[in-house]
Amino acid sequence: MTRLSGKTAIITGAAGGIGAATAQLFAEEGARLALVDIDEAVLAEVEAMVKAAVPGVDLIAIPADVGQESAAAEIVARTLEAFGGVDVLVNNAGIRSYEPLDAAKAETWQKILSVNLLSYAYLAREALPALRRSGKGAIVNISSTHAFNPRGGMGQYDVAKAGIISMTKTLAFEEVGHGVRVNAVCPGLTLTPFHVRRFAPQGKTEQDLRTEKVDHNIMQRWADPREVAWPILWLASDEASFCTASVIMADGGTRV
Ligand SMILES: NC(=O)c1ccc[n+]([C@@H]2O[C@H](COP(=O)([O-])OP(=O)(O)OC[C@H]3O[C@@H](n4cnc5c(N)ncnc54)[C@H](O)[C@@H]3O)[C@@H](O)[C@H]2O)c1
Repeated sequence: MTRLSGKTAIITGAAGGIGAATAQLFAEEGARLALVDIDEAVLAEVEAMVKAAVPGVDLIAIPADVGQESAAAEIVARTLEAFGGVDVLVNNAGIRSYEPLDAAKAETWQKILSVNLLSYAYLAREALPALRRSGKGAIVNISSTHAFNPRGGMGQYDVAKAGIISMTKTLAFEEVGHGVRVNAVCPGLTLTPFHVRRFAPQGKTEQDLRTEKVDHNIMQRWADPREVAWPILWLASDEASFCTASVIMADGGTRV
C-alpha cells in the first residue's frame, strides 16, 4: 500500500470514471493528490469519495479547463503551493466526438486537439521543472487502444490518441537525462458513468453492460475502471524504474 508514499500526483480528468478510480488507487497507495477537472460538481463528489475511502489523504481539488493553455501553469502552481513538489503527472482528461472525417468541423478538431492532446503537452511542459527536481518524476499519458486500432466515425479522437503515443515517446527521449520517465496506457472499452449514460437510451442498465458479451476485445467484456488504474499506478511508481517510452495496452486484447 505504499507504492506512492511521499509522492505528489496531479491527475487530470479526475471526475471521470478512469480518473476517479486512479485517484482512489493512488490515495490507497499513499500519494498526495491534486485532482483536476472541468466539472466542479462531480470533482467535489470524487474528492468526498476518495476522502471517505482513504481517511487522512492529502488532497486538493482544482476545477480547471485544461483545454486552456494558461490552466497548466496554474494547476502546477497550486500543486506546488499545497505540497511543495510534483512527482507524478497523469494526463487523463478526454472528450469524444462522433463526426466522420467528411463532416468533421474545424471547431471540433480544435476542441479535441486542445483537450486530448495539447493539454497533455502543456501540463507536461509546466510540470517538468518540478518533475526533474523530484529525481524520480513520472508522466503517464492516457491514450486509447484506438491510437493503434482506429475505426470509422471517431477520427478526430483517434488521431489525437495516436498523437499522444508519439508525444510520449518524444518526451521520454528528451527527458531521460533529467530522470523523468514518460509512458502511456491505452485503455479499451471501460465501463464508466459516461458509457452507462450513453447506453441508457437503448434501455441498457449498468448491470446489463457488466454482463453482456462484447465483440470489441477477445475477453469479450468491458473493463472496470480500476483495471485500467492498476497499470497507471504501476507506471507511476518506482517499480517501473526501467520503463520509459513504453505503452501498456489495457484493452482486453482489442480485435482488429
Ligand atoms: N472509457 C473508455 O472506454 C476509454 C477507452 C479508451 C480511452 N479512454 C480514455 O481514458 C481517459 C479517461 O476516460 P473516461 O472513460 O474516464 O472518461 P470520462 O468522460 O468519464 O472522464 C473524462 C473526464 O475529463 C474531464 N474533462 C473533459 N474536458 C475537460 C477539460 N477541458 N478540462 C478538464 N477536464 C476535462 C471530464 O469532465 C471527465 O470528468 C480519456 O482520455 C479517454 O479518452 C477511455
